Amino acid sequence: MKVLAIIGSPRKDGNTTILTNEVINILKKENIETEILNIGGKTISPCIACGKCFDMQNKQCIQTEDIVNECILKMENSDAILIASPTYFANVSTEVKALIDRAGMVAKANGDMLKRKIGAAIVAERRGGAIQVFNAINAFFLINQMIVSGSSYWNLGIGMAKGDVKNDEEGLSTMRTLAQNILWLLKKIK
Ligand SMILES: Cc1cc2nc3c(=O)[nH]c(=O)nc-3n(C[C@H](O)[C@H](O)[C@H](O)COP(=O)(O)O)c2cc1C
Repeated sequence: MKVLAIIGSPRKDGNTTILTNEVINILKKENIETEILNIGGKTISPCIACGKCFDMQNKQCIQTEDIVNECILKMENSDAILIASPTYFANVSTEVKALIDRAGMVAKANGDMLKRKIGAAIVAERRGGAIQVFNAINAFFLINQMIVSGSSYWNLGIGMAKGDVKNDEEGLSTMRTLAQNILWLLKKIK
């Protein structure tokens, strides 16, 4: 069983990463194979609505110059996919938006190739807007027929400066419960 975490914050070791690590560390302790892929700060082209993924049907995007095709390949080879984003003006980061548009289109063009994988959103915010981010990421999972994992609260943590989220005990606890739910689901789909 493999869990892939894609982190879409350009701030290295920031709050989004801290929240993601809280989940990943528990999965690792249970001997689940994990991989973290940082897309934050990378130049990722937007979907250009060319429809070529529907012509090619090769599980890849026609745009090959950035990290998206690598992400899609890693998503295909994982049982659970975490997508973590900071809240930027009540939305996902630009990198995450470009990824979900292009990976989402490729997945649709290839018979919902991510279906029945587990999906979980992780969101960092200062004060407001995280629910929209949570919804945007979950919308990507749900339209791909993925099984979405929740927690005891929506999967978010609060903090502004780098590391602030460490003071959000409820947010961290939400991540630990999320990890337990992912573990439970992994056993079910095994
Ligand atoms: C461009 C930008 C827009 C932001 N917009 C919001 C927002 O709408 N709501 C909010 O609560 N925080 C907002 N923030 C704050 C970040 O979401 C917050 O600092 C978060 O912890 C950053 O995560 P990171 O440390 O992983 O980068 C914004 C930050 C930036 C840089």
